[in-house]
Amino acid sequence: MSIIYQEDKKVFHINTKNSTYQMQIDPYGFLLHLYYGRKTTGVMDYLLYYFDRGFSGNPSVVGTCRTYSMDTLPQEYSSLGNGDYRNSCLVVKNADGSYSCDLRYVGHTISKGKYSLTGLPAVYGNEEDSETLEIHMEDKVNGVNVDLLYGVIPELDIITRAARITNTHEETFILEKAGSACLDFVTGDFDLITFHGRHAMERNYQRTPIGHSSQVIGSRRGMSSHQYNPMLIIADHEATEDYGSCWSMNFVYSGGFKAEAEKDQTNGTRVVMGLMDEMFEYPIRKGEVFYTPEVIMSFSIQGMEKLSHNLHKCIREHVCRGPHRDGDRPILLNSWEGCYFDFNGEDIYQLAVEAKNLGLDMIVMDDGWFGKRDDDFSGLGDWFVNEEKLGESLGHLVERITALGMKFGIWFEPECINEDSKLYKEHPDWVFRIPGRDPIRSRYQLVLDFSRKEVVDYIFHEVCSVLDQGDISYVKWDFNRSIADAYSNDTDCQGKVLYDYVLGLYDFMERLLQRYPNLLLEGCSGGGGRFDAGIMYYSPQIWCSDNTDAIDRLRIQYGTSFGYPISTMGSHVSAVPNHQTGRSTPLNTRGVVAMSGTFGYELDPAKMTEEEKEQVKEQIKLYRKFSSLIHHGLYYRLTNPFENEVGAWMLVAEDQSEALVSAVFQQVHGAALCHYIRLKGLKSGSFYKDEGNGDIYPADALMDVGYPLPAEFGSYNAYQIHLTLIK
Ligand code: GLA
Repeated sequence: MSIIYQEDKKVFHINTKNSTYQMQIDPYGFLLHLYYGRKTTGVMDYLLYYFDRGFSGNPSVVGTCRTYSMDTLPQEYSSLGNGDYRNSCLVVKNADGSYSCDLRYVGHTISKGKYSLTGLPAVYGNEEDSETLEIHMEDKVNGVNVDLLYGVIPELDIITRAARITNTHEETFILEKAGSACLDFVTGDFDLITFHGRHAMERNYQRTPIGHSSQVIGSRRGMSSHQYNPMLIIADHEATEDYGSCWSMNFVYSGGFKAEAEKDQTNGTRVVMGLMDEMFEYPIRKGEVFYTPEVIMSFSIQGMEKLSHNLHKCIREHVCRGPHRDGDRPILLNSWEGCYFDFNGEDIYQLAVEAKNLGLDMIVMDDGWFGKRDDDFSGLGDWFVNEEKLGESLGHLVERITALGMKFGIWFEPECINEDSKLYKEHPDWVFRIPGRDPIRSRYQLVLDFSRKEVVDYIFHEVCSVLDQGDISYVKWDFNRSIADAYSNDTDCQGKVLYDYVLGLYDFMERLLQRYPNLLLEGCSGGGGRFDAGIMYYSPQIWCSDNTDAIDRLRIQYGTSFGYPISTMGSHVSAVPNHQTGRSTPLNTRGVVAMSGTFGYELDPAKMTEEEKEQVKEQIKLYRKFSSLIHHGLYYRLTNPFENEVGAWMLVAEDQSEALVSAVFQQVHGAALCHYIRLKGLKSGSFYKDEGNGDIYPADALMDVGYPLPAEFGSYNAYQIHLTLIK
C-alpha cells in the first residue's frame, strides 16, 4: 500500500519509492499539509508551529486560542476568505455576494488504480502500478464540496493532484479561481525554475530565488503558450543537476494557466498551480460537477536529472497513449519549409519519391491543400480539398504515395478560420468576437468557438470527410494564434468560455482517436505554443518549435527536456541558411540535434547535392540504429547550452549496456582548448568501448574527468559518440 491513513494521528501518508507526502486532519477538520520530501515513515506534525501572530486571525472553532491561524499553518487546498491571506487555490463567490469558503474534512476513500477526470486528460495507471486517494471536504454553509484527488505511481516517484468541485445546495456559487494544487513549505530557501520564451524561441531556462513577492507565470492566451510553459521546478538553492532536493509541478492542461510562488510573512513558501483565474468565472448550480485539470508532481533528492527521469517516464508511459506510444515513430518529410504554400499534387508526389529514395517513411502535406489557401489570408475553415490546385483528388494522391511504400500525413488547423472563407460567410457567429467591437486578428485569422458543441461537431465532420478519402496515417494539428475576444454567442456566462473551449478541443481529439485508432497525431501551435502534457495525452509528439536552427534548438530542446521526454519533441533537419535565423550549420550538426527528438526533415531534397543526399541516407540509418536508445534511454543533460560553449547531452540504455553522447560546438576560438565532457549514468567500475575509433575508456574516468572532444576548427561542428559496455 502506498497510501496509508494513520487513524491515531489522522495522518495521510502517500509513499513513493523515494518520497513521502503527508497531510493531517487537525482536531477542527481542517486539512493541513505536513510534508513533501524524501521518504520517511515518521509523522511530520512536529513541523507545525503555533505562535500568536498579530493580524493573523483565528477561526471561531479554536475558541480563545490565538496561536491557531489559517494564515500561518500550511494548507492542503487553501481558499480565499477563511483567514488565509496568502495566494489561494480556491476562490468562491457565494450567492449572497460574499467571498468565503471554509472546507472541513468529511471522509476519504483509498482505492487501487488511478482516478480519471471527466473530459480532461490525466495520468493513467492500472490496479498494479497506481493508487488513488480521495479526500472529501465540505463547507456546510454554502454547499461547496471539494474532493481532493491524489494519484500515486510509486515506482516513478509521481504524485498527481486535482479537485472535483460540486454543489449540494440550492443556491448557485461561482468559482472565481479553481486551482489544482497548493504546495506549502514551512521553511527553506528555494529557487523557482521556469521555462519562458516566445514564438520560435520557446522554453528558455530561468532560475531565480523565491522571495517575499509573488512570482507569477501563466497564460491569458487561452493556450498554454510559447511565453511560459506550464511546468516549473522548485529547487533548494544548493540543488544542481545531480544533487539536492527539487520538486516539479507539471500542468496537464492546454489552456490558460497560472502558477504563483511566494515566501510568506513567516518565511514559509507557497506554490500554487491551476487554471488562469482572469476571465474565469464558473457558476456551479445544484448537482453540477467541475473538475480542475491535473498537476503532476515529483520529488527528487538527487537533483534535476532524476526529477526529469521521473517525468519522462511518467509522460511516456502514463500520459501518452495509443499504438505509437512506444513504437518507432515514422521518419517524415514535411513540405512546409520546402514548399510553403506553393505546391501541387505532383510536387508532393515528387517529394515522396525523393523521401523514399533517401529512406524516409512518410510524407506530410502541410498547410495549403484546402479551400482557397495560397497564402495565409484565406481558406482556414474550408476543409475541402482544393483539387484544382492539387491537380488530382486527395484519394488519388494518397494512393500514388502509398503505392511507393510511403505513409501519408496531412496538416489541419481545426480551431481557426479566416474571414475570407466559405465557412465564415455561412456562420459568422461561430467565431470568438465581442459584439459591437472589431475583432483582434492574428495571422489574419480568428478562432472558432469550440465551447459550442455544434461548432466542434461540424468541424469534426469536415475533418473526417477528408481523412476518409485515403489511407492517411498522420495528422499535424496546428493552432496558430493566441485567443482574444473570447465571447461566445451561446452561453449565459462568458467566464466559462475559455475552459469550455479546451474541453471542446479535447473532446474533438478524443473522438478523432476513437474513430481512427491508428492515427498518429502530432500537436503543433506555431511550433511549441501548446507543448504541454494535456496535448500529449492525445498526441505523443508535438512540433517543438518553428525554429529549426540547430544552435537555437540546443537551447529549446535543453529547456524542454526538464519536463518532457525526447519522444515528444518533434525535431527536423531543415535547409541552410536557416529560414528563421539565417545561420548556416553543417548537415551533420543539424542531424545530430534533430535526432534527439522525433526525427524528420523539412526541406526540398531535390535541392540537395548528391553528397548531401548520401549523408542524409547515413543519418537515417543511424537514427534507426539508435531510435530505441534515443526514445527509451535515460536522458542526461551534460552541459547547459545557455552557459557553455558546447551543448552536450547523452542517452544511456536502462541496463547501461550502451550510451549515445551528442555534443555540438556553439563557438570556436584560436588555439582551441580541449573540452572534456563529463559523462553520466555509465556503469561504475566497468569499461566502455568507443564504437567510432575502438578506444576503450574506464567508465569512472569518463564520468569524473570526461571524454575529450576533438580540438575544434570550423563552425558549429557536432559529434556523436556511441559507447558500448565491455562485458
Ligand atoms: C505553423 C507551424 C508550421 C507550419 C505552418 C503552416 O507555423 O508551426 O510548422 O505548419 O504553421 O501554416
